[in-house]
Amino acid sequence: MYERQYSVYVWHVGDFKLDSCRVCGAPISPFMSFGQMPIANGFLRPEEFADEYFFELAPAFCSSCHMFQIVEQPEPQAMFHENYAFFSSTSKYMQDHFKAFADDVSERFIAGRPSPFVVELGSNDGIMLRNFAAAGIHHLGVEPSANVAEVARSNGVETISVFFGAETAADIADQHGKANAILAANVMCHIPDIQGVALGVRSLLADDGVFVFEDPYLGDMIEKTSYDQIYDEHVFIFSALSVAEAFRRHGLELIDVAPQVTHGGSMRYTLAFEGARPVSSAVETILAKERAQGLDKPETYDRFRMNCETSRRDLMTLLNELREAGKRVVGYGATSKSTTTMNYCGVTPDHVEFISDTTPIKQGKCTPGAHIPVKPHADFAAAPPDYTLLFAWNHQREIMANETSYTDGGGKWITYIPKVEIFP
Ligand code: TYD
Ligand code: ZN
Repeated sequence: MYERQYSVYVWHVGDFKLDSCRVCGAPISPFMSFGQMPIANGFLRPEEFADEYFFELAPAFCSSCHMFQIVEQPEPQAMFHENYAFFSSTSKYMQDHFKAFADDVSERFIAGRPSPFVVELGSNDGIMLRNFAAAGIHHLGVEPSANVAEVARSNGVETISVFFGAETAADIADQHGKANAILAANVMCHIPDIQGVALGVRSLLADDGVFVFEDPYLGDMIEKTSYDQIYDEHVFIFSALSVAEAFRRHGLELIDVAPQVTHGGSMRYTLAFEGARPVSSAVETILAKERAQGLDKPETYDRFRMNCETSRRDLMTLLNELREAGKRVVGYGATSKSTTTMNYCGVTPDHVEFISDTTPIKQGKCTPGAHIPVKPHADFAAAPPDYTLLFAWNHQREIMANETSYTDGGGKWITYIPKVEIFP
């Protein structure tokens, strides 16, 4: 069952197509469409092509509360099938990131308290909470995916397999007491029922507790035209403006923000009960920056649409030229994001021979919609292509460090974020 396998909150996902904002109820309509889109993580075999699921991927901006959201989400059964299991801890880089996240929370909000309690929503395999477990801090992971939760427990991270909402939050508070910190990473943007989470946070959080979460950041997406952040699982792309407004409605105040480099540009938001804690000057600074960037104005999203069209045209012009010149092009990283890129732009197996990816469950399958074969890195290393299209652009630094022999041997890279370019 999909709900056992997946690590976030799919149970609220309807098969709806919205005409009103999920946060404030104001009328919304899409400012563009990426067209018919398959499930971003729906890697499949040729015999499954005929039954592939598609939906229309179309984002909208609510000019009342400033929330950026997609209007249609596929049915959860289509999104999360039995092979879908994402384990966070496979990347050393992400392990370090979450240790730093945990250390920061500990220093600022946990240290010196008599018996602190930390909860994480969508705690996955315990990549963040294990840092609290190691320090002997009372913690609880809330991870709906049973198999992923089991891995966390085997790592010594106390975890329950339930969906977080007002009722579960009250149960947790009864059993464990109120939480000094509730954390979430790359989870909030997946949950359509942001209201339900806010109610849960309210009933679980101690009076002076904090709710700290991070997700891909709208400001980066607009600045870099990284439209590939938009796919079925990302219901929302948050900004400080939209987060402050969404939680203000529930008596929670944005008290701090901190930009992160992960996932191509993320933001960490810290919230507390209104008036309970001082508000950092970083909040007013980022709100002013977002207004200056126009994140509160519909025209910004019209411009974003035009930038997406330019990016698509430039990428396809380049790929068509390379194909005509008989060059070999291989993709690097079969990311969720690349599903939007390939299907919106019209990339085919004639343009990209295969995609190299280190994830065993993706290998031997084809990418959703575009049907480009995914192969192990050994295939890339054995026959280095003329050009490598960097779909995992968010890991550029790490990948460049690992691929010096390809690059030094004359291999060329193609990126499309923030614009289509060949390097070095
Ligand atoms: P990820 O960064 O999680 O992006 P998304 O959220 O869009 O899926 O995915 C990175 C993908 O790239 C993952 O499938 C693993 C792959 N990858 C490689 O194949 N080699 C590498 O060196 C790196 C860093 C990632
Ligand atoms: Zn709204």
